[in-house]
Amino acid sequence: MATKQKWNASDLVDQSGRTAVVTGANSGLGIATVDALAHAGAHVVLAVRDPQRGEAAARTVRGARGSVEVRRLDLADLASVREFADSWQGPLDLLINNAGVMNIPEASTKDGFEMQFGTNHLGHFALTNLLLPYVTDRVVTVSSGAHRIPGSTHIRFHNLNLTGEYSPTAAYSQSKLANLLFTLELQSRLAAEGSSVRALAAHPGWAATNLQGHDASLARRALMAVGNRLIAQDNRAGALPTLYAATEDLPGASYVGPDGFGEMRGGPALVGRSAAASDAESAVRLWAASERLTGVTFPQLFSRVVGV
Ligand SMILES: NC(=O)c1ccc[n+]([C@@H]2O[C@H](COP(=O)([O-])OP(=O)(O)OC[C@H]3O[C@@H](n4cnc5c(N)ncnc54)[C@H](OP(=O)(O)O)[C@@H]3O)[C@@H](O)[C@H]2O)c1
Repeated sequence: MATKQKWNASDLVDQSGRTAVVTGANSGLGIATVDALAHAGAHVVLAVRDPQRGEAAARTVRGARGSVEVRRLDLADLASVREFADSWQGPLDLLINNAGVMNIPEASTKDGFEMQFGTNHLGHFALTNLLLPYVTDRVVTVSSGAHRIPGSTHIRFHNLNLTGEYSPTAAYSQSKLANLLFTLELQSRLAAEGSSVRALAAHPGWAATNLQGHDASLARRALMAVGNRLIAQDNRAGALPTLYAATEDLPGASYVGPDGFGEMRGGPALVGRSAAASDAESAVRLWAASERLTGVTFPQLFSRVVGV
């Protein structure tokens, strides 16, 4: 008897006529996500901090039914996020908050936020809220199994920038926990508005990309280079949970990851999250802090630009 193949990019429902934005689209999971959506017929905007590298990545998307376009977006600079959103026109079916940095040496964004929290969470928080009036279907945010890392499983509300207590792994873990809490509170706000727009999250397991090459620790970088060869999936397999969350009919706040051992590899499936990532009170608190830090608030969707 033939066994059913796991869900893959060829199972993507037709995306013709749909528009998607993918952040961090010039490499790794981002370009794999773009490629699959464009082959399924979507018009995909590669939101990248370096347009030249974005154009080079866009040229690798060959033979697609859909189309691609490159626009500049630096998530570590709120002025750039505003510029990107200000120039947006027309419906946006899918916003995919994929970009990220991991375990990097201590650094700050243009606006003075710790770089991992600022890029992975605050930049996407601002982008999403600014684009939300245009979003017609869903927002998918890419988190990580690292949101569970022991010892860093809570948001440091007293010191979000980890000033004086910076650890590359704690900062990454905090930012990825923030991605999940953001999804939870966004979904709750959308539901309260009676909106049909959904917020979902995904994680790729372990995928061999550029992410591991910027680690602040040489030893960890070497270890991860070995893991990339022995354990990791490729970027196309790693992008499947994102694509599944972006296109399958799943409830809001769903979290999709690989179904294999330790959620490191495998086909996309609904997965669990830590207790901290399910804490509605922390989600509300993080939302308020993020509004205060970015100056961007949840839009009034009854005056949405798109739709009825
Ligand atoms: N790979 C894994 O095993 C793994 C596991 C769990 C979660 N994730 C998550 O998956 C997502 C994608 O990562 P990846 O593995 O594909 O790594 P990647 O190949 O390094 O891709 C990350 C992308 O984010 C972009 N980026 C970084 N800072 C940015 C900024 N300030 N503004 C705009 N774009 C920015 C990068 O642009 P540049 O090329 O210009 O640097 C790059 O295109 C991340 O959110 C990561 O946390 C990955």
